[in-house]
Amino acid sequence: MNILVTGGNGFIGTHLVKRLRGLGHEVNVADLIGRGYNLDICSPKLADLLIKLKPQIVYHLAADNRVTGSVKSILKSNVIGTFNVLEACKQAKIKQFIFTSSAAVYGESKRLPIKESWPTRPISAYGLSKLTDELYCHLFEKHFLATIFRFANVYGPGQNSTAEGGVVAIFARRILDNQPVTVYGSGKQTRDFVFVGDVVDALTAALSRPQTAILNIGSNQPTSIVRLVNLIEKLTKMPAKINYLPKRPVEIEKSLFSYEQAGIKLKWRPKTSIEEGLNATIGFNLAGAE
Ligand SMILES: NC(=O)c1ccc[n+]([C@@H]2O[C@H](COP(=O)([O-])OP(=O)(O)OC[C@H]3O[C@@H](n4cnc5c(N)ncnc54)[C@H](O)[C@@H]3O)[C@@H](O)[C@H]2O)c1
Repeated sequence: MNILVTGGNGFIGTHLVKRLRGLGHEVNVADLIGRGYNLDICSPKLADLLIKLKPQIVYHLAADNRVTGSVKSILKSNVIGTFNVLEACKQAKIKQFIFTSSAAVYGESKRLPIKESWPTRPISAYGLSKLTDELYCHLFEKHFLATIFRFANVYGPGQNSTAEGGVVAIFARRILDNQPVTVYGSGKQTRDFVFVGDVVDALTAALSRPQTAILNIGSNQPTSIVRLVNLIEKLTKMPAKINYLPKRPVEIEKSLFSYEQAGIKLKWRPKTSIEEGLNATIGFNLAGAE
């Protein structure tokens, strides 16, 4: 198939593009930086590009991911940008739009594990932008199928260890470098960490089972931030120094996903344990340091 990936040079995009090409698809990338077509998703040139390339499928991953980023920048990249991508897809008459949303749309959930039908109450500009994007996807459903993935905390090799939000990458890098790690709040807050290889399995499964749906993608395993530090210490055989700072206002206490719907609709389940995934991530970091 002929596929366009926006944000294809980012962490998840790089893994996705590699897998899609391995499966024999023709894949083009549109990203601000790196390989492929360098352009902003807000640009009017995006429609010209799609009309020229004629993709059947668009994976839309490009986004400003900073949970504490400026509201203006998030609104521009994530809301105006996504609307521009959707309009371009309509003009180019694509068949399926695959969008990467986030656990941030739920905010602080009262019950766990979180199901797709549960209330969405984002507490960050980022979460609100992703929820708005999902609603725009629904507006375009008469033009193409819209498959929306809500990802838990994705981690794995290649995640930027200097970026905000990639806690696994940041902790692995800092512990390997003998640098202290910063924990906001007690460290007892839990996250649902899902390995990037499993996330790419879900993204590609959407091609063989095309449908309009909203699907949670997570591991259904809670891991506290302190346990994450302990696991990295064990796997790297390096002791960690922890700097505790006050809880941030946009910090969610507990996040845990049910992936039952992805199981039913895509026959998907996560295959990688946190230990296996951390081992692969640490191995990548060690190789990068050599
Ligand atoms: N990594 C996670 O834990 C996670 C969790 C939930 C959802 N997501 C979503 O998955 C998608 C991919 O995440 P990632 O971790 O690979 O992020 P990333 O930051 O590594 O990659 C994003 C890519 O988008 C590009 N980009 C940003 N703004 C752009 C713009 N205006 N025009 C063109 N390109 C632009 C960046 O250059 C980058 O290559 C994002 O939509 C993100 O919100 C990620």
